[in-house]
Amino acid sequence: MFTKINFLVPAICLLVFQAVRSQTSDPAYSDPHRLQIHFSPKKGWMNDPNGMVYLNGKYHLFFQYNPDSTVWGPMHWGHAVSNDLVHWKELPIALYPDALGTIFSGSAIVDKNNTAGFGANAMIAIYTSHNHAMEKEGFEKIETQSIAYSLDEGKTWTKYKGNPVLPNPGIRDFRDPKVSWYAPAKKWIMTLATSDHITFYSSPDLKNWTKESEFGKNLGAHGGVWECPDLFPLSYNSEEVWVLIVNINPGGPNGGSATQYFTGKFDGHVFTPNETDTKWIDYGPDNYAGITWSNTGDRKVFLGWMSNWKYANIVPTEKWRSANTIARELAIEKIGDKYQVSSIPVKEIEELKSTSYSAQNIKAKNINVTAKAGKLKGPAILKLTADELKAFNITLSNTSGEKLVIGYDKSANQYFIDRSQSGKTDFSKDFSNKIVAPRLITDKSTNICLVIDDASVELFADNGHTVMTAIFFPTSDYTDIGISSDDKFKIKTLSVDHLRSIWK
Ligand code: FRU
Repeated sequence: MFTKINFLVPAICLLVFQAVRSQTSDPAYSDPHRLQIHFSPKKGWMNDPNGMVYLNGKYHLFFQYNPDSTVWGPMHWGHAVSNDLVHWKELPIALYPDALGTIFSGSAIVDKNNTAGFGANAMIAIYTSHNHAMEKEGFEKIETQSIAYSLDEGKTWTKYKGNPVLPNPGIRDFRDPKVSWYAPAKKWIMTLATSDHITFYSSPDLKNWTKESEFGKNLGAHGGVWECPDLFPLSYNSEEVWVLIVNINPGGPNGGSATQYFTGKFDGHVFTPNETDTKWIDYGPDNYAGITWSNTGDRKVFLGWMSNWKYANIVPTEKWRSANTIARELAIEKIGDKYQVSSIPVKEIEELKSTSYSAQNIKAKNINVTAKAGKLKGPAILKLTADELKAFNITLSNTSGEKLVIGYDKSANQYFIDRSQSGKTDFSKDFSNKIVAPRLITDKSTNICLVIDDASVELFADNGHTVMTAIFFPTSDYTDIGISSDDKFKIKTLSVDHLRSIWK
């Protein structure tokens, strides 16, 4: 009797658990190539993350959204929310196009002191109104900045009657306002992408804006238009270092869209860089329009759109297009005499761990990781450390002979991702190139973290100093992981954590 109950109770629990699980998991999130630990909209088209703001225990993520098609079109702000930066719940559309135009990218803030008069702690979105009708007529001044407010944590929105709050001074590409509170002068700062440079504006109330200064006409990368900027301080020891993020399209280090940044000082009027070389947050082709959450105190969390304008509209997914990168924590360090921003996955991702495998002191000559850690059945994180970095390849593969190779080329001192044989690549001539990134630190030792999902890989090398993000589309999911090296590469620690899907 006892033994029967002992056996039956766990069996019944398992059946009930599985029934609940299959009821709660939406079939939309099992589509081919659907990312399992990254946010993507259930249907329709998504590009840039917008209005990222933390309020009352929730991270809000708005996004450029075309609900009626899987290609770019009339822009709305979609909306999703998370308690932990990992699990996302998609909510109804937040902002719809209006007479001033469609709703292009922008930011959101919490107005703690009621500076705008909409109410203390109102959530206020500052976005670009893009007027397509005027664009068709050939007008230049088609982009202006507008605001909207929400008194119920982003569920419903009211557009300000006095919009636009910042008219166009005669610049065709005049968009993507990122607004933050500059406490020393008690004013809001708007960092705006204005064609080939950044323009800073200030305001006491988000409604009246004064031009402060311009930055960057002759600095940084200029292979394309400047878009989606961000400005915030990070602390390095006790020093305050300001980081200015500037997305650019095209002109990235591996072609197409990418995110450059500058480090320097900001005094409420002018940004003064302390170095003039071009730096990239992520060298991969698939991290664009990334900015950080506002209202998170000293913690700076970044997230980008995991695609590239070179092929975003034609990637082989059917019911939806595009996902975001995982959320990443930013930090600043000095490498030699230069400041450098590093990014690593937010620690909350560890919550998703299911089964784990680890090993120490192994030769990387030829490791069948699958034989030890089990087949890939969805997302996973692979980590390795070594006292001396040498050339290596990590290969993800399936039974159809398709593979993605991620590794380090010692002679070139470069990390790389080779997706030439990764599966479906012929939808774009720009998709199957080998992607490379310089190693940015000179230490002998290394530390590699690879976040693997069904259609993306994010490489954080050397504690997130060199980062690369790439998407891929195998005809069937990758199931195997192998590591190889011709170079007597000795791995000190190796671990593989299989992760649970965020949708189940
Ligand atoms: C960047 C971008 C922004 C613009 C938005 C339009 O990807 O071009 O500059 O606001 O997308 O969807």
